[in-house]
Amino acid sequence: MPNELSESESQKVMGNIPDSEKVLKNKVAIITGASRGIGKAIAQRFAEAGASVVICARNDGLLKKVSAEITSKGQQCLALRADVTSENDVAETVKKTLDTHGHLDILVNNAGMVRDNLIARMKPEDWDIVLSTNLKSAFLFISAAAKPMIRKRSGRIINITSVIGIRGNAGQANYAASKAGIIGLTKSAAREFASRNILVNAIAPGFIVTDMTDQISSEQRELITKEIPLNRLGQPEDIANAALFLASERASYITGQVINVDGGMII
Ligand SMILES: NC(=O)c1ccc[n+]([C@@H]2O[C@H](COP(=O)([O-])OP(=O)(O)OC[C@H]3O[C@@H](n4cnc5c(N)ncnc54)[C@H](O)[C@@H]3O)[C@@H](O)[C@H]2O)c1
Repeated sequence: MPNELSESESQKVMGNIPDSEKVLKNKVAIITGASRGIGKAIAQRFAEAGASVVICARNDGLLKKVSAEITSKGQQCLALRADVTSENDVAETVKKTLDTHGHLDILVNNAGMVRDNLIARMKPEDWDIVLSTNLKSAFLFISAAAKPMIRKRSGRIINITSVIGIRGNAGQANYAASKAGIIGLTKSAAREFASRNILVNAIAPGFIVTDMTDQISSEQRELITKEIPLNRLGQPEDIANAALFLASERASYITGQVINVDGGMII
């Protein structure tokens, strides 16, 4: 019967991934900024792949909603409210993860924000909050997560940068600097932790449809789409798929890299 789905195909259509394809089975992953957008899609994709996910963000209500969606499918999720700019909140998130699961395998530094303005008009506070939220947070989390990963002699760290960190953008000097900083941090951490089998990579999304890009007018969207060889804006799932690959055994010989997931914006 040519149109009949095999058992594993029909399980996938139903949203149930067969056990043999749960590439993150027995893995514990922290995903920051997972109350919505790209972080939420990564948490969902990792949970589907068998990981126990720990999600954090500042908005407790949204976070609990995401957690309830994931656990309602019989998957594992722990929601922890945390401000990623707070050293104390970061340490507590890692501690509670270890208290609950006993180990930590994967860290995804995804939380981020924009506070756009031209340099001449940008206030030092706008610089500080964006650098602190997007870059210092990743340093704090890597520093806290590295300890249990070093003890285990294994780990994966995935940092979400941006095409803007590679090519810059007028009106986004603070954001571009933070995302370029993420690339330097990724490459340094990859060199520092390689001997402990901790692989550190970055994903540079192009234009992804989320709340962060919601304010952009439809005219601007059309202009941006013209710049994208694949002729469409990205979806959070496009980034989640790349993150799943980097977290999986299939990426075990890749470290210190920046993978552009941008429909060809940067070639
Ligand atoms: N959307 C895009 O086009 C795009 C492109 C390139 C890179 N990125 C990057 O991807 C990541 C996710 O972006 P998104 O589009 O899903 O954005 P979003 O605004 O929808 O989500 C950001 C998440 O970060 C969390 N967050 C922000 N500040 C925080 C803090 N201090 N403490 C804890 N959590 C905090 C928010 O609560 C939210 O969950 C960001 O790092 C962003 O810079 C996005």
